[in-house]
Amino acid sequence: MTPRQSAKRAPGRSEDAPPFFPPAQESTAPFGAIPVEFGGSFPSPKVKLTPALPEIVLLGRSNVGKSSLINALFGRPLARVSNTPGRTALINVFRLPGLYLLDLPGYGFARVSHKERDRYQALVRGVLTSRSSLTGVLWLLDLRHDPSAEDQVHADLLADREIPVLVALTKADKLPFGQRQRRHASLVKALGLPADQVVLTSSTTGLGLAELGESLLALSEAR
Ligand code: GTP
Ligand code: MG
Repeated sequence: MTPRQSAKRAPGRSEDAPPFFPPAQESTAPFGAIPVEFGGSFPSPKVKLTPALPEIVLLGRSNVGKSSLINALFGRPLARVSNTPGRTALINVFRLPGLYLLDLPGYGFARVSHKERDRYQALVRGVLTSRSSLTGVLWLLDLRHDPSAEDQVHADLLADREIPVLVALTKADKLPFGQRQRRHASLVKALGLPADQVVLTSSTTGLGLAELGESLLALSEAR
């Protein structure tokens, strides 16, 4: 049977139209039913949030998909996403019942001014090294790339403070299934973390979000 004969064709679609497949939906937004409030944008890592609640920050290089992941977890466009790296410039706080999620600027983006880059850097470092309310870190790495020197610098900061870390390997939809599994295995090895702490995700298809959501909530209750 040729591919043309095997493909399903919707009534009324021409012979030459490509076959239609429904969009891949591997899970719905796991935090879809959780109430969430925007708690504000702040330029200082020392900002005091009231009431005091556990805090989880999203850490990762610019453009890795931090803001997209927040939106995908909630199924709502809460955080600003852009093709232009450097979009998130402040600490953006999202308040859930019993937990704050902090969307941070990304590190490693070369095309903003030196002054801006230094400011982003100081902000991210300040959050990781001096926020006593920090309960856990969701560290995002692009599944397709090995951790960069800058990723390693941040991993060392986390290790120094012994902050619990959960890793989301992002943009898994950009690789075919077999390659995803191979990259997952090799990154688990490179990071030296237990496999269940390193989750394959895609904000586009929803892959891994249910598992990640559960682990995030567990992390917020861990301390
Ligand atoms: P900064 O705020 O600059 O640090 O970036 P960020 O880490 O918040 O990344 P953002 O969520 O803004 O996403 C950057 C780009 O990657 C956007 O064009 C997104 O649409 C795209 N993107 C994010 N997640 C995914 C994903 O899971 N799959 C695919 N294919 N694209 C994604
Ligand atoms: Mg962002």
